[in-house]
Amino acid sequence: MRRRILAVCTALSTVVGAAVVALGVTVSAAPPALALDNGLAKTPPMGFNNWNSTHCSGTFNEGMVKGIADLFVSSGLKAAGYQYVNIDDCWAEPTRDSSGNLVPNRTRFPNGIKAVADYVHGKGLKFGLYSSAGIKTCNGTGGFPGGLGHERQDAALWASWGVDYLKYDNCNNQGVDAKQRYTAMRDALAATGRPITYSLCEWGQNKPWTWASNVGNLWRTTGDINDSYAKMLSIFKANVKLDAFAGPGHWNDPDMLEVGNGKMSDTEYRSHFSLWSIMSAPLLIGSDIRKASSATMTILENTDVIAVDQDTLGVQGKEISSANGLHVITKPLAGGDRAVALFNETGSSATISTSASAVGARSASSWQLTDLWSKATRSTTGTISAKVPAHGTVIYRVHAVPAPSAVTEG
Ligand code: GLA
Repeated sequence: MRRRILAVCTALSTVVGAAVVALGVTVSAAPPALALDNGLAKTPPMGFNNWNSTHCSGTFNEGMVKGIADLFVSSGLKAAGYQYVNIDDCWAEPTRDSSGNLVPNRTRFPNGIKAVADYVHGKGLKFGLYSSAGIKTCNGTGGFPGGLGHERQDAALWASWGVDYLKYDNCNNQGVDAKQRYTAMRDALAATGRPITYSLCEWGQNKPWTWASNVGNLWRTTGDINDSYAKMLSIFKANVKLDAFAGPGHWNDPDMLEVGNGKMSDTEYRSHFSLWSIMSAPLLIGSDIRKASSATMTILENTDVIAVDQDTLGVQGKEISSANGLHVITKPLAGGDRAVALFNETGSSATISTSASAVGARSASSWQLTDLWSKATRSTTGTISAKVPAHGTVIYRVHAVPAPSAVTEG
């Protein structure tokens, strides 16, 4: 029933383009167009991308990609939901061959890209690649060949290699209209007949959340992240405002994770992971997990937090207060629970308080709060409050007890 009510509200808001109040919580206006009809990314993509840990350095090569795929299986990351092993810029030779085809870098990928994709597939995982909607990619001396004007040829080649995911960047775009460039690649990918998750990476420059829900499965909302609390914080603040535009098959992308890269504290990395999850962001691991500490793996494999990100309702969490750097974000979950993140942006510990009704929890006389990091549970008659360390986040699952008998699951 509840799911049906939400579906009706979503449909209604698509029609009228207005905010709708459902079950005590404002469900913001839906995006202007239907989601891309490729059936992919019904929940935010999860996986790995090498960029944040390697950039173009020599450690980015076939051995690394295979090692990550091995580790996905052996370390439990695959079981936790991570699926894509994606490679970023610098995988290609600087020039196309005489037929105009892209050529894998002979040093990094001596056996080609298909061999790597086959290896990844052999582990029951999916493989992703990178290009740019320009004449050159973003990095290397002068960049590597981009897809602008080569969309059909490149997409066909990638499909023949077994590519399952494309990150399509924005460098060297010659001033051609973004919608036109990204739509051309959408159509080229569709023409291959292979399901390929399509990630737009134009850094939010053309407000893709206003036009890309039927172009790509996800779109970057900001410039590049780096391994610093300040940058993670500023990206969070920009991305959290865009909750109205995300949904199954079309997500806001605040960029890849920095968890484990070493320049933030574990408290800050837990905030990063919690905030990305409550914002229904893609969870693409950006550290070289072959060298990960156990603290890093514990963060990345927190399946309770991952479940918030991957919830099938597909609603991005909404910030309901942020006074004095004390943020409260709430996200409705399938089955009627709520996730609530209490994030302390400031440099000193602080108590952050809200209530079951303010976060839109089902009406009840008491609620069970499960702390998704400590796993502690407690009961409340309404107040949801925690002492949160500097730069820290407490994230709860709020469950109404007992479930109201009038509401049955649809
Ligand atoms: C851009 C993107 C990054 C990365 C690099 C590669 O900066 O935003 O995520 O792909 O290009 O050169």
